[in-house]
Amino acid sequence: MTATPANRDPDAARQRARDIISAYVGHKGALLMALLDVQYQLNYIPETTVDDAAEILGYSQPEVWGVLSFYSDFSVGQGSDHFIDVCIDAPCHVTGARSIERAIRDAVTDSDVEVRPISCPRLCNQAPVVAYDQQWRGQLTPQTAAEFARDMGVVS
Ligand code: FES
Repeated sequence: MTATPANRDPDAARQRARDIISAYVGHKGALLMALLDVQYQLNYIPETTVDDAAEILGYSQPEVWGVLSFYSDFSVGQGSDHFIDVCIDAPCHVTGARSIERAIRDAVTDSDVEVRPISCPRLCNQAPVVAYDQQWRGQLTPQTAAEFARDMGVVS
């Protein structure tokens, strides 16, 4: 499920995230699984989820933040409908990730699309890599990255 305008209502999103988290009470590995489920269902992690996951699952807030910051899969406090992920870790960095990120930011005009730098999705043999809603492309240049954004329909 992708984010809908209803998912961006802070109160509705918080309640939905609480319901999702509550379903994992007592499960082994509950924190990571619950956070992944919130990310999957809302397409982002409401900031209130840090407090809620800590309260519901019995973790400390730093423990919840630790999981959220360790994995690149999480987008905290954002509610865009779509994402363009640009890997900026070392193999992608040395093959031009930052110039690709700039080219994409310059090209994207759709305000429902958020460009975000991410950590390695383990596609280094294809570096530099970019994804639009998890559709990955590799071995990009700034020019082909902008063309990719155009192909995805996020450029006017
Ligand atoms: S560093 Fe970019 S895919 Fe691994």
